[in-house]
Amino acid sequence: MSDISSRKRLPEGASVPRRDFIGMAALAWSGIALAAAGTTAAALRFLFPRFGGGGGGEFSAGDISDFYVLPGMVAEKYARGRGVFLVRLREDGIEKLVAVSAVCTHLGCRLNWVGAEGVFRCPCHGSSFHPDGRNASGPAMRPLERFAIRAEADGRIVVDKGKIFRGETGGWRRRETYVPMS
Ligand code: FES
Repeated sequence: MSDISSRKRLPEGASVPRRDFIGMAALAWSGIALAAAGTTAAALRFLFPRFGGGGGGEFSAGDISDFYVLPGMVAEKYARGRGVFLVRLREDGIEKLVAVSAVCTHLGCRLNWVGAEGVFRCPCHGSSFHPDGRNASGPAMRPLERFAIRAEADGRIVVDKGKIFRGETGGWRRRETYVPMS
């Protein structure tokens, strides 16, 4: 009574053969799985973007004479490989050279310096930061970090990424965070 008997009465070729049906279903599921994988990958890229910080430890960043320029200058030379911008600024009445992290404090993307706007901008979700590291626009909520920096007796500038200082806890005032430039 049944469905089986009614199926038997169908003319030949009026229903989809079982093998074809299974093949189509498998194809459909593959498509759904691929789409889901693509969406998941995009979501993961959004949530955990590429970390652009470079390695830790010390590195040599040229000679102090390279930085006797007007306050406001941003050196991008070490941003890609080392994850550090060298910035000349005046802060608390002191002319300084500081080492500002090139890594966004939102989710860790590498920042670009946009000279025309005078900000570091994050290509991932659009945060921007002032040259001294203060956050200018979100979604990042925290300022950029700074690293220890010093001038050796021969004038060589050395940045130590193993020592990190945060502005929100007063770390930027520490003497290790700048080389005096006057
Ligand atoms: S990583 Fe999201 S704004 Fe920079």
